[in-house]
This record gives sequence, C-alpha cells and structure tokens, in this order.
Amino acid sequence: MLKHKDVLGLYELDAEEIDEILTVGMSMKKLLRQNIKKLPHLQGKSVTTLFYENSTRTRCSFELATKYMGAHVVNIAAASSSVQKGETLVDTGKTLDAMKNDVIVIRHPMGGAPALLAKTVKAHVVNAGDGMNEHPSQALLDMLTMRENFPSLQGLTVAILGDIRHSRVAKSNLFGLRKMGATVKMFAPRTLMPAEIDKMGAVVCRSREEAVEGADVVMGLRIQLERQHGGNFPSLGEYAKFYGVNEEIMQYAKKGALVMHPGPVNRGVELTSGLIDGDTSRIEEQVLSGIAVRMAILFLLTKEEI
Ligand code: CP
Repeated sequence: MLKHKDVLGLYELDAEEIDEILTVGMSMKKLLRQNIKKLPHLQGKSVTTLFYENSTRTRCSFELATKYMGAHVVNIAAASSSVQKGETLVDTGKTLDAMKNDVIVIRHPMGGAPALLAKTVKAHVVNAGDGMNEHPSQALLDMLTMRENFPSLQGLTVAILGDIRHSRVAKSNLFGLRKMGATVKMFAPRTLMPAEIDKMGAVVCRSREEAVEGADVVMGLRIQLERQHGGNFPSLGEYAKFYGVNEEIMQYAKKGALVMHPGPVNRGVELTSGLIDGDTSRIEEQVLSGIAVRMAILFLLTKEEI
C-alpha cells in the first residue's frame, strides 16, 4: 500500500514506495510474459484516463493495465471533450468524481495540473506527464527495466543525454534513481540543459564522452520540438552529429551497457538506428515494463479498498 493518495511525482515518493511499486511491477511483468491478461486486482473499479496531450505508450498502457486487472476504463481526449466548451480542469475533475471514478490518470501540458486535480477530487490521481515537471510512471518503468538487468539500482551509473530542459522524464528519473542509490550523469547542449539541475543531484557533464564514461545505462531523450520555439540548436542533422548517441560514443560506456529511450524516438537524431535496434537496446522491453508498472501503481493505490 502506498503512503500517498496520488502518484504525482517521484519527488514525493520515498524509496520504500518506489521499491514496492517496482517489486509488484516485476511480478506483474512475469505474468504478462506468460501472456496472463486476466487478473482480479481491480475488479469493480473505474478508471478514467484524461489526456490533454498526445500519447501512444502511456495512454495505451494505462488502458491495458486497467483492462488486464478487470476494471472499467473510460478514455477522454481533451480535444473531443467538454474542455473544448470551456470547462475548467477542476469542474472536469468534479464531474469525474461524481461519476464515482476510483482513479483518474491525467496528462496535461501545464506542470502542476495533476496536483491541482488531486486536491479537488476524492479519486486517486496519477500523473501521466505534466508539462516540463514530472512523468513518474515513465521513470518507474525505466527503473523496473534497469532492475531486471542488474542486481540492484544501488551503485548504477545512468547517463541521460538529450533535451533535458524540456524533459519531465529526465526529472522523474533523476529523483527516482537518486533515491534508489544510483548516480545520474547528464549531458545536453547548453541551451537544453536546465540551470541548477546539479542542485537536484545530477552530475552535469561537459561532453557526450564524459557523460557516457563508465555508464551502465545510456538513455537518450527526445528533442521536444513542440515545447521549443527554435534557436536551441542549428538543425536536427547537426544535433545528431554533435550531441546524439552513436556507436562511437557508446565505446566510453561499460561493456554491454544498456541503451534506453522513453520514446517516441526521433530515429537517427537522439540515437542511431543501429543502437535502437541493437542487442543492448531495451527500448521495446521498456514498453512491456510500462504496462507492468502501471498495473502495480493502479493496484497499490486502490488496494486498501478491496
Ligand atoms: N514515453 C511517453 O510518454 O510516450 P507517449 O507520449 O507515447 O505516451
């Protein structure tokens, strides 16, 4: 059982809660590997996904996680909802609460929107990505994937390269991995590196080589063109050449170091196609971890009520 009513970010969760989600998530993943998709854990519960931004992986995996555990699920895309008629987030939340939803999963372009919703509703709220703030379930699925491949997260060195400034994934991974005892190194063009991220515990590096040196895991991050207004780097081709992760840069990592990316990938920009499709890539594995970890989150949030 989690100590919090909601999962809003890994800044809030403690190491014990993260460990519990990962442990349950690993059990769920074992069941998924056996193609077991009919579990009773959420029977009689209602879950709504409320997405104000596009998504493939997160929305789909929350929906599947819910269905595999026997709950009712409703998916709302803001573009086709009463939000278009001017309804506020708080009023939308009150409406979903009145419908007796047990969990609301929300993605929103504004950082802090899930926290605002959580204060308003009785339902448990899960942050599925809020602006440039956090994406906790993504970092948890990343950590689950790492934990499956290493004896422990304690002592791991994880290099994160890409658009750190706009990345909620980078922040959630930083908070989560640090709490679990890992070292997080970061590299980005200066224009895409947030000020003072070192004060949050990141080891800020001056080059790709320095970031990847000795890493157990190398994670590329998507260049978030939709959150940029130009001028952060000359072109995607030049980004790939001077800042992207390729086979040559991977030579600085530990032998057999894992390649990860939260997706969606700009193929050939953040990572080369050879790395995306190579033996050390865990990108597809991350997708399956996504369903498992979201099953764990939904189960642990609603467990006390069963
Ligand atoms: N990683 C991630 O959040 O992907 P989606 O935008 O497809 O959900």
